[in-house]
Amino acid sequence: MLKFLRSTILSKIVMAVSGAAIVGFLIAHLTGNLLMFGGPEKINAYGQGLRDLGPLLWIMRGGLIVVLVLHVISSIFLADKNRSARPINYEKKKSLQSTLASRSMFFSGLTILTFVTYHLLHYTLGIVQPQFFHGEYTLHDGRVVHDVYTMVIYGFRNPFITITYVLAMTFVCLHISHAVPSAFQTLGINNVKYNAMIKKASAALAALILVGYLSIPAAIMAGALKLIEGAK
Ligand code: HEM
Repeated sequence: MLKFLRSTILSKIVMAVSGAAIVGFLIAHLTGNLLMFGGPEKINAYGQGLRDLGPLLWIMRGGLIVVLVLHVISSIFLADKNRSARPINYEKKKSLQSTLASRSMFFSGLTILTFVTYHLLHYTLGIVQPQFFHGEYTLHDGRVVHDVYTMVIYGFRNPFITITYVLAMTFVCLHISHAVPSAFQTLGINNVKYNAMIKKASAALAALILVGYLSIPAAIMAGALKLIEGAK
């Protein structure tokens, strides 16, 4: 029993801490992506800056993969424990509610995982739209770098891709708004006094991240972010 409790608590802590790291990545990634509004020079120099990190970039990518794998494994473990630990005479309404919440988290998690795979095939590996992946851009200092700006503009000119991203990013933010309060609870940073505030702050954070990410496809679809002269 103690072993079970310990491992369940350990899984919840792994889930909360890895989740916090993923939210950190999402905020950092959004900050970088918003450089699209600064034009091709800014976002392409930023992309090159990341590549210039060399081995450090690979260490960061490795860390992100480890965090993602830990998050997925602990979610599978906890979903399994929840199912087998549910008492038979559990109050029906409560059981239905908690199952719906955890099931929807599991479903949105799976959707996000599918999206991340698609996203990597798109912008990191160039398998989704290979024709727009090999563009080059000459920075003001003369360096020829990967043209991330044009690649992203072409990506969001495709309505199918845009709808996929909008749906996926909505799932990401719904997942965050539900997950952050439960992470606080897991880590014991909850109190009747602060619960409502934590829920509101989590919803606000999720909404902010959603608006930030959606602003890019929205600006491209509206024509506010456009191709630069001479881009192929
Ligand atoms: C407007 C929305 C987004 C845009 C324009 C965007 C853009 C990009 C680009 C251009 C890259 C390639 C970086 C490179 O290799 O040079 C990338 C990588 C990545 N993106 Fe996004 N992204 C968006 C949303 C998201 C979301 C919502 C997630 C997570 C749920 C995400 C997760 C990732 C991950 C994990 C990588 C790989 C990082 C790496 O290779 O080091 N992105 N993104």
